[in-house]
Amino acid sequence: VIVMFICACEEIEEILIILSEGKEAVRGHFSPAPALERRLEETKKTKLLDELRAIGGGAKIEYVYQHDLNGLGGAVLLAEEFAAGESFAVLLGDTILSSATDVPVTGQLMELHDRYAASVIAVEEVPAELVPRYGIIGGRYLEPGVLEISTMVEKPAVQEAPSRLAVASRYILPYSIFAALKHTPRGKGNEVQLTDAIRSLLGAERFVGGRIAGRRHDIGDKLSFLENTVEFALKRPEFREEFLKYLENIVTQQKKEE
Ligand code: G1P
Repeated sequence: VIVMFICACEEIEEILIILSEGKEAVRGHFSPAPALERRLEETKKTKLLDELRAIGGGAKIEYVYQHDLNGLGGAVLLAEEFAAGESFAVLLGDTILSSATDVPVTGQLMELHDRYAASVIAVEEVPAELVPRYGIIGGRYLEPGVLEISTMVEKPAVQEAPSRLAVASRYILPYSIFAALKHTPRGKGNEVQLTDAIRSLLGAERFVGGRIAGRRHDIGDKLSFLENTVEFALKRPEFREEFLKYLENIVTQQKKEE
């Protein structure tokens, strides 16, 4: 599980990455590389140097390890000290959300947080057969795309689901979630479910669901990881043309070989 916590203040300045043991590649990616930086400086490779320095976007990044793999709720609980009494954002690392507007999806949620003085959960409509894979919310619309959440169930059977609106991997949570998590017994899959802890707060705390303006890209399995790598590469103007040619060639070649 990789969960990132970001102070839901005006700008994202601090990130906590929650890792399971041994997943050092993630940490390595964000770590400073002073020797490499010096070398790039000496050889005047300024473009590469800028790219290297831009990793992490200037945020202060901390790490914590989840030794007991007791679920998403257990992972979130490890951020109590980091959150230091504040609301914070949670981004599940197995999903990328691409925004359809100029405002990134987490930014869209932060706007809703400010507008409704509420915690916020990104939601997305899913087809009936996918309902048992997600946390599903129920509630009433406050305006198009925004619901007041009145119930939430983790991975329900279709006939028990309150809607087809699935929790889409991004949350702005209140600090009170930590107390709730400590009282949340293991649920679905014998894991401590974040969904159960949130449900226990409904009524006492306001939660709104925001249908995101954008797309969810699941990168948690190998095939979708590959598909999304191609899709995101094609969005980069510096790669698009040549990469498309490469893909066309490889497809032609494969067909010939069949
Ligand atoms: C987790 C949450 C679930 C949410 C999903 C989104 O499930 O428990 O509520 O809908 O992420 O990706 P997981 O995918 O870890 O089983």
